[in-house]
Amino acid sequence: MTSSETASAPVPPPVVPAGRDAGRVPPGTPMRAIPGLMRKLWFDRISLLADAADEFGDAVRFRMGPKTLYFFNHPDHAKHVLADNSANYHKGIGLHEARRAIGDGLLTSEGELWRRQRRTIQPAFRRERVAEMTDLIVDEAHTLLGRLEAHAGRDPVDVVAEMTRLTLGVVGRGLLGTDLARFGDLSDAFEAVQDQAMFEMVTLQMVPIWLPLRKHRRFRAGLAQLADVASSLVAACENESQPAKDNVITRLVDAYRDESDASLRRKRLQDELLTLLLAGHETTASTLSWTWYLIDRHPDVADRMRAEALAVLGERTPKFEDLHALRYTNMVIQEAMRLYPPVWALTRRALRADQVGGYRVPAGVDVMISPYTLHRNPAFWPDPQRFDPQRFEPTGAAAAAHRYAYIPFGAGPRVCVGSHLGMLEATLVAAMVARRFRLELPPGQQGRPEAMLSLRVRGGLKMLVRPIQGSHPAS
Ligand code: HEM
Repeated sequence: MTSSETASAPVPPPVVPAGRDAGRVPPGTPMRAIPGLMRKLWFDRISLLADAADEFGDAVRFRMGPKTLYFFNHPDHAKHVLADNSANYHKGIGLHEARRAIGDGLLTSEGELWRRQRRTIQPAFRRERVAEMTDLIVDEAHTLLGRLEAHAGRDPVDVVAEMTRLTLGVVGRGLLGTDLARFGDLSDAFEAVQDQAMFEMVTLQMVPIWLPLRKHRRFRAGLAQLADVASSLVAACENESQPAKDNVITRLVDAYRDESDASLRRKRLQDELLTLLLAGHETTASTLSWTWYLIDRHPDVADRMRAEALAVLGERTPKFEDLHALRYTNMVIQEAMRLYPPVWALTRRALRADQVGGYRVPAGVDVMISPYTLHRNPAFWPDPQRFDPQRFEPTGAAAAAHRYAYIPFGAGPRVCVGSHLGMLEATLVAAMVARRFRLELPPGQQGRPEAMLSLRVRGGLKMLVRPIQGSHPAS
């Protein structure tokens, strides 16, 4: 992409450029709109944001009960909050509340703790380390193909559940060196923890966790199951007599070895592992699920992707080096993440008063940047609702757009640590499935987004599995 300066639409200059307390106040939603807002916040967060972006443009102030949320929808604003003045912002609404569920892992921690965690974990995600995970990704993809084969020409399969099994398998083996399947089905537990985080956000943490609600019981049971998994992984690693393999878990155990408070050490390790498991599987599963949905509606794209998979891979097992040649597949994935970015909201809380694009942001308020609305902002994306992978050609519209008009992995210091892994996994798996099967949504069904911690497909995605004539079952 070109630099932000070349193609960005102009942002009006601040009215009073002196001092952080100066500047315009963004237009606000009227008091009478509050009940409607709260309803949408509960039932349809995506249209809440999309409608606000349509109606108010680049900046809007939502008043919701005791909170005010500043929602910015211009790439310059995203650049300011996420990168240029990131030191003034901590994680905000949603993630702040999610801490009660997932603790202080890399996604939610701040300050020195975050820096230390990022230093520890980041080396395990470098490109060359991720390249070493190719074989296990391919292996998990073969297992997925076997499961799809069992449904071929028969009953539909829940594609979201299948993609989630695959990505959980990759995170478990690739990062933690273990087959998580031995702990049974963890997807319900993850879902319960996520639902709770979202519930905490929507209710602004005003419902005490000790209330005997069914939802709270489900959350506690899920969290306990995941905590058991985390502590059993840590114990296995701590008791290892051989010099352990260098993976995320051994790095974390090493990093906390000198922590003398044993319960704090266990808590930190548990938070870190849960965070990585959560952040590392739902996002990639969501990317793949939306890809299947979109290409089913665009058979020309599906055909071209299949042709590329056959031309590059033939019937053989993929290698890391193939990634470069699977260029069209990569473009399809990028376009799927443009329309359905798995992380639909990046939230922050202003530590001190600031000015964002000339708008005054008081200290302590919540700020939101949404990849979903930025990626569909008509000022930066021609015909934004249309699915068109060609935008990601080297000379396509994406290259001409503002650098911060496309941020599926976030930006600035808190940018996704797992982006190479997510892209490698999504591209290889998409190519491997596309050369064997066509996934078809039964007539009359629609995929509707549901904004939880990641952008899920509401109610899952039941698709029919059609084998491609002449494809090789073992590939
Ligand atoms: C297509 C797949 C993925 C997408 C779209 C994605 C997206 C994102 C985004 C947007 C953020 C920034 C959140 C913010 O600024 O508030 C983020 C952070 C993060 N992601 Fe990913 N992610 C993906 C895959 C992964 C994978 C495979 C892992 C590995 C386990 C991972 C681990 C993390 C972690 C730990 C953070 C927090 C980083 C920090 O705050 O320092 N992600 N991700």
